[in-house]
Amino acid sequence: MPGFELWGAEERREVEEVLETGILMRYGFDGPRRGRWKARELEAALCQRTGAAHALVVSSGTAALTTALAALGIGAGDEVVMPTFTFVASFEAVLSVGATPVLADVDDTLTLSPAAARAAVTSRTRAVMPVHMCGAMADLGALDALCREKGIALLEDACQATGGSWKGRALGSIGKAGCYSFDFVKTITCGEGGAVVTSDPEVARRCDQYADHGHDHLGADRGADMHPALGYNFRISELHAAVGLAQIRKLDRFLEIQRRNKAALRAALAAVPGVTFRRIPDPDGDSASFLSFFLPDEGRARAAARAMQGAGVPAMYWYDNNWHYVRRWDHLRSAASPNPLPSNVRAALAATASRPFPASDAVMCRAISTPIGLAWTDEQLAERAARLAAAVGSVG
Ligand SMILES: Cc1ncc(COP(=O)(O)O)c(C=O)c1O
Repeated sequence: MPGFELWGAEERREVEEVLETGILMRYGFDGPRRGRWKARELEAALCQRTGAAHALVVSSGTAALTTALAALGIGAGDEVVMPTFTFVASFEAVLSVGATPVLADVDDTLTLSPAAARAAVTSRTRAVMPVHMCGAMADLGALDALCREKGIALLEDACQATGGSWKGRALGSIGKAGCYSFDFVKTITCGEGGAVVTSDPEVARRCDQYADHGHDHLGADRGADMHPALGYNFRISELHAAVGLAQIRKLDRFLEIQRRNKAALRAALAAVPGVTFRRIPDPDGDSASFLSFFLPDEGRARAAARAMQGAGVPAMYWYDNNWHYVRRWDHLRSAASPNPLPSNVRAALAATASRPFPASDAVMCRAISTPIGLAWTDEQLAERAARLAAAVGSVG
């Protein structure tokens, strides 16, 4: 899914503009920066793109999730329901604001099961956090309805789904807040970066302050700002924002290529007996950064993943993945930490460690994803499609 594959003159030009002034910080220095505000421009582009009223660009997707959670008022004693399949950062972000992540099963969408989320909601739940994994959306209709019914926040982790949509609305813009990652292997990249979007002005104001030590950002003199609340440093630099600005202007092109390439791989694989595809609640809104599919059972999925690797086609067999599926989060299960953890965090980790997730296992042990490239030639695409189908088809 990486925008870095189509890096070029546009990114260099934006970075050069920042280097010309030497003002690498997003705040202040109004005179010397000569009207160059890359983070602000990227935020405006995100608002325009997503339809959200507010966007805040920060230093990473993890920082975006942490900032959004804090701005939603979520902290000690609160629970956040989230899926067993995500990057470990979603879990870390909840822990880092002092709240308790409560894991719920995924279904054949490879995202949070609405039924499992409903069963996980307690009187302490303050948010449901679906994660739009591998480029496509969770069942937002059911999850949004659940959150409205329970009076809790829907927080979208859209870190892997920039550019995706659901019923014509940008992923990330449907909940109370949504977060994106622009790290180096995301659909568009800043090198490192992320963003929170929201249409709630109060949440936006709190994000703006929390990600910059609590600065109120009201005056022209940073040193004279007031600090209405605690905050931390999750700022993005102008250099990183400049890269993201060039990338977001190319997002439609990236999506078009991804969708075309994915369709070709999918068509080749559809002919292989026993293969079924991940269910996508709104296929038109798939950002198409991965092709995800299922084999009938774990044995055949493992064999297919091995055959793909042998044929030079990347296979993400998530069930064994150290970073994305709860089964291998040993460091969290054992609460391994360089510093002592608060007692509620230790309790949350212990609860996760002791829980089996058979429904998630039944899905994840059969799932494989393969990433979609942006720079493939027609010949490379045709060759990859043929190798993919042959490798998976070789598994009886
Ligand atoms: C689902 C998900 N959430 C959060 C993150 C964190 O993003 P970042 O790497 O920008 O901190 C990632 C990154 O891989 C992710 O995949």
